[in-house]
Amino acid sequence: MRNMEIIAHRGASAVCPENTMSAFERSLELGATGIETDVQMTSDGRLVLIHDETLSRTGGAEGWVKDTTYDQLRTRDAGSWFHADFTGERIPSLEELFKLVQGKGTLLNLELKNGIVSYKGMEEKVIEAIQDWNLEQQVVLSSFNHASLVRCKRLAPEIRTALLYMEKLYRPYDYAAKLEATGLHPYKLAITQEDVAAALAHGIVTYPFTVNDPAEMQAMIDMGVQGIITDVPDVLASLLTVHAR
Ligand code: G3P
Ligand code: CA
Repeated sequence: MRNMEIIAHRGASAVCPENTMSAFERSLELGATGIETDVQMTSDGRLVLIHDETLSRTGGAEGWVKDTTYDQLRTRDAGSWFHADFTGERIPSLEELFKLVQGKGTLLNLELKNGIVSYKGMEEKVIEAIQDWNLEQQVVLSSFNHASLVRCKRLAPEIRTALLYMEKLYRPYDYAAKLEATGLHPYKLAITQEDVAAALAHGIVTYPFTVNDPAEMQAMIDMGVQGIITDVPDVLASLLTVHAR
């Protein structure tokens, strides 16, 4: 494990349209050691990377991802909502991102977005894809849907899981251990220094989200977290460089 994972939230989403290949590629140029992204499923069962269940905010069309075929979805413009320079950007498939990170040692945090839409068979499909690409060691699966993470663990014990949560939990490391998760991904206001230390003592890492302000990043580093999920990986990378001097 590296000292501190710099995990780009939806790619370099401060400077590129979130969850696009441009955002993922740029995040690596900006010093990210990891990429976080959101997985949804099309009507014909393809895994695609988009945050919302619907296309209206970033997908250049109306409608739900679950009701759109992969071919239809690939005709949509996922870039121009952000800036005209990104016109023509596509909603990526999971495999496109696998191709980018394979062989690079980049940590890949796949968030399963199956809390609002219960995508049938999503866990099986994600795991099969990870195994096909031999990315078991590079991937961490996370979700707010903890039952889904338990299902993933049963299907593939070798793939790490991490619990996403918004509010403080009582002994989150105990809960994580019960679910055989090796990571906690709390909202930044839901962590305490004691929980971070206790989690680590149980072999569980803590990566808070989404931390963009350097002073807040510093506070998290001082709390002893092992990684930070951020829209601005370059800001965290420079903060860590200053530390290393
Ligand atoms: O994985 C951390 C964070 O991405 C969870 O919230 O809404 O940005 O997907 P959201
Ligand atoms: Ca996410």
